[in-house]
Amino acid sequence: MNILTFDSGDKLNEAGANIIAGLIQTQPTAVLGLATGGTPVGIYERLVSGFRRGLLSFRGVTAFNLDEYVGLDRQHPQSYYSYMQKHLFAHIDLPAEQAHIPDGNAADLQAECERYDRLIAEAGQIDLQLLGIGHNGHIGFNEPAHALIRGTHVVDLAEETRKANARFFGSADEVPKQAITMGVGTILKAKTILLVVRGADKADIVRRALTGPITTECPASLLQTHPHLVVLLDKDAAGRLP
Ligand code: F6R
Repeated sequence: MNILTFDSGDKLNEAGANIIAGLIQTQPTAVLGLATGGTPVGIYERLVSGFRRGLLSFRGVTAFNLDEYVGLDRQHPQSYYSYMQKHLFAHIDLPAEQAHIPDGNAADLQAECERYDRLIAEAGQIDLQLLGIGHNGHIGFNEPAHALIRGTHVVDLAEETRKANARFFGSADEVPKQAITMGVGTILKAKTILLVVRGADKADIVRRALTGPITTECPASLLQTHPHLVVLLDKDAAGRLP
């Protein structure tokens, strides 16, 4: 595990974007696993800027997003489809057919999960999986549980997650109750995992995830078993590490 701590959010974003850009520059057909939420916004901004300056092209890249809400219209401003368009996809040359997000409105959600897993398998291994972390230790939307599911599946969002994401909606009641998420088996199969965390409110969960017991009650703790885990922290998120 390689933990890098930054004294500013700007430097952290720059480091995250440089790692992703470096991969695409050396491997133009890289398979990326992408995340949404507040954390990666600044990283995506810098990737867009790198693309605009002609430093990188996403033409050969294939991308798989971690998750999507169930039952939220794709055009809803808070769908992860809209998020990815707004922050990344609409501004770069990644062909639409190479940008994958689970369909949370599929008539048959189980079939959609199987389709998503098939697509990931067909693309081969995910080269780099970008991750944020929930206050409860979730990665993707794999919430703490007695057992975790390997592949893509429908999950009931934890109350804590719905409360945390209420800031993007009008209120917690408007946050969908379910999501489709990649499973931890798929996440852990990625060649490299890039975990990005910022903010003092995440300092406790960062300590638990990186130094605590490996347990499904803190899904991010499973990342300790990954051979190529890179963790980017701002100094606040790193504040409780030994
Ligand atoms: C997002 C995702 C989630 C978030 C996590 C942190 O696609 O899968 O695991 O990474 O909830 O969210 P933020 O970055 O908003 O604190």
